[in-house]
Amino acid sequence: MTERTEEETVAVEIVDRIAWVKFNRPEKRNCMSPKLNRQMGRVFADLEFREDVGVIVLTGEGEAWSAGMDLKEYFRETEAEGLHAIRRSQREAYTWWERLRWCEKPTIAMVNGWCFGGGYGPLFGCDIAIAAENAQFGLSEINWGILPGGGASKVVADLMPLRKAVYHAMMGENLTGKQAAEQGLVTEAVPADQLKARVTEIAQVLLKKDPNTLRATKWAVRRMTEMTYDNAEDYLIRAQEALHSYGGVAVRKEATRQFLDEKTFKPGLGAFDASKVKG
Ligand code: ACO
Repeated sequence: MTERTEEETVAVEIVDRIAWVKFNRPEKRNCMSPKLNRQMGRVFADLEFREDVGVIVLTGEGEAWSAGMDLKEYFRETEAEGLHAIRRSQREAYTWWERLRWCEKPTIAMVNGWCFGGGYGPLFGCDIAIAAENAQFGLSEINWGILPGGGASKVVADLMPLRKAVYHAMMGENLTGKQAAEQGLVTEAVPADQLKARVTEIAQVLLKKDPNTLRATKWAVRRMTEMTYDNAEDYLIRAQEALHSYGGVAVRKEATRQFLDEKTFKPGLGAFDASKVKG
């Protein structure tokens, strides 16, 4: 096939407030080239603030989620250009992964197949990760003579038990989706034919939550990993108070009313009816 344009490296479809974003280089197993990274940057800059999007799903076209960085276009060709090109390419990749980590909207990685190396950056960036049981996860860096950079070492150290993380990085053996779930790298693994249905089900639950509370919650939990207990307590007080200035008081009052007075919902069993919030 003729080479894809920059725009064609990412596919986006919005259906019922869920944005389905696809790595779209299936013929290259969706490895991340500078073009793809630039396009992902544009796509997320748009989706993050759209009113008609409530949840963003990141998945891959074809057999792969993402086969990591493009060894030709991201490494060999930029290295041939020199240090500035290398730094520029790193910045293009790291910027959209960072944007994903702190995205305004809830995000779900729907891992449909191969996920290697640099792919762990956007994987970690997503709030929830659901994998097909037969997906394959690998830190293949050790197999071709580099260390797991681009945040990948940090991702496994943060998400997996240390013994498992070190083994995974040193051995260059792949994990199935099922093993990745058992070791904490993803949230859950399901049979491949149930993957989209399960992700849709999760997205629909998220769509029913108050979006401001959801955003404050996901950011709070991420921040916690790097805070002492005392700083965490203080941050959480302040984050809750900040939430109050974006309609949080009305949300809480209405939810409390529905539970205590109207008795139409129980917080322990699901979300309140946000459509009744006034002002
Ligand atoms: N970089 C550049 N090209 C790639 C990459 C990649 N990461 N992954 C796949 N491709 C290309 C192949 O070169 C091939 O191109 P061609 O058709 O022009 O020959 C095409 O995609 C299809 O790949 P195949 O290897 O033929 O596909 P197959 O299904 O047999 O294997 C697999 C899939 C296992 C994912 C294999 O492509 C592979 O090992 N890819 C590299 C995975 C990897 O180690 N990524 C780097 C991680 S480290 C990092 O990201 C920093």
